[in-house]
Amino acid sequence: MADMNWNMRTVALGETRYPYFYGYDCMDRIVTSIAAYDADRFIVVTDDNVLARHGESLLPALGAHAPVQVLSLPAGENIKSPANLASHLEEAIASGATRRSVVVAFGGGVPGNLAGVVAALLFRGVRLVHIPTTTVAAMDSVISLKQAINSCSGKNHIGTYHTPEAVYLDVALLRTLGDRELRSGLCEATKNCLAIRPDVVPDLRRVLARGDLAAPDTLLWLLEESLEAKISVTAQDRYEQRTGLVLEYGHTLGHAVELCDQRLRGSAGLSHGEAVMFGMLAAARISAQVGGLTLDDVALHDELAHALGAPLVVPAGLETAEVVGVVRRDNKRGYLPVTGEEAAMVVLDELGTPMGSRELPLVPVPMDLIRETVAGLRTERHGLTLQR
Ligand SMILES: NC(=O)c1ccc[n+]([C@@H]2O[C@H](COP(=O)([O-])OP(=O)(O)OC[C@H]3O[C@@H](n4cnc5c(N)ncnc54)[C@H](O)[C@@H]3O)[C@@H](O)[C@H]2O)c1
Repeated sequence: MADMNWNMRTVALGETRYPYFYGYDCMDRIVTSIAAYDADRFIVVTDDNVLARHGESLLPALGAHAPVQVLSLPAGENIKSPANLASHLEEAIASGATRRSVVVAFGGGVPGNLAGVVAALLFRGVRLVHIPTTTVAAMDSVISLKQAINSCSGKNHIGTYHTPEAVYLDVALLRTLGDRELRSGLCEATKNCLAIRPDVVPDLRRVLARGDLAAPDTLLWLLEESLEAKISVTAQDRYEQRTGLVLEYGHTLGHAVELCDQRLRGSAGLSHGEAVMFGMLAAARISAQVGGLTLDDVALHDELAHALGAPLVVPAGLETAEVVGVVRRDNKRGYLPVTGEEAAMVVLDELGTPMGSRELPLVPVPMDLIRETVAGLRTERHGLTLQR
């Protein structure tokens, strides 16, 4: 278990390396570290929620070392737009940014991604540091070189790869997250355990059974597990296009349900992590149907989804045909040749071991099986308890 105050792990993505510093109640050390970059200006990209809640813990202290420019927008996925990217770049340049400036991504995955593209494009690339403030950002998006914004027709269509100088996480900042945001990142951490590191499932069960998901030692444990799991598959796969595709477990049906649910319920719809957890319930059933996982493994998925408060059935109002229609346009189509009646999916042979090859952990799954699985997940199931 981590030292509560200050730890460092090296993130390895192919040949690329950067440090990830983390601890509890450590904003003073974070500011001291960032001050050492000798920047002529800090360009802090954030959203209005994060600014209101946590701006005071960063901005005055950072401002003692160099001028700070804050680029903040109302929170939400739709700020990842070309128009906001252009206005952030123009504002940064107009107010005196130079190649010695440092972009500070302060917030969840949304401002983090926008900041990443700003840093990559400003003068063809300036230094970027991440201070993640959500579980999704801390346990997922900052352990990646991918930086992207959305086009009018879809998610993460416009982007590039840019390596941060470092990541700095103060777990204390995560304690102000709403329950939904907290659980979203924990669902992704659970995915890593099921698809990559099943040996730690007993520990995960114990951690979830304790109930207080925002407890600092729970968050530190989940962070270390996410780092371990993600690095183990990306160390040889800088761009997450080969072995790293196992991280897409649960994402085929997850993205489809997320999109359909958000069309129906808008921002009150499922969070990304909840949708991925639901996608794993479907992927586990498909894995069992094609001779991979056992029924006990499927029950384990249900038990963990229940403990995380993720949906166990298709959200009300969503039609099977609509969900399957979105699966047909899934963005993993380009990696594996499939017919119009198949989808390329991560399917598990056993927990921690995907079918396909280590180099390409995707297999074609018949659309009929996907349709039957979604239809089967429309029925309510009760009585799940978390085993310790
Ligand atoms: N490889 C990658 O680059 C990668 C990986 C995973 C996700 N993502 C991206 O991440 C985004 C989702 O990230 P997210 O879930 O962090 O969304 P988000 O950044 O929108 O944050 C969710 C909400 O939490 C609020 N918030 C942030 N920190 C808070 C805090 N400490 N206390 C209280 N409220 C706080 C935000 O203002 C927002 O309302 C998506 O756009 C997704 O595409 C990228």
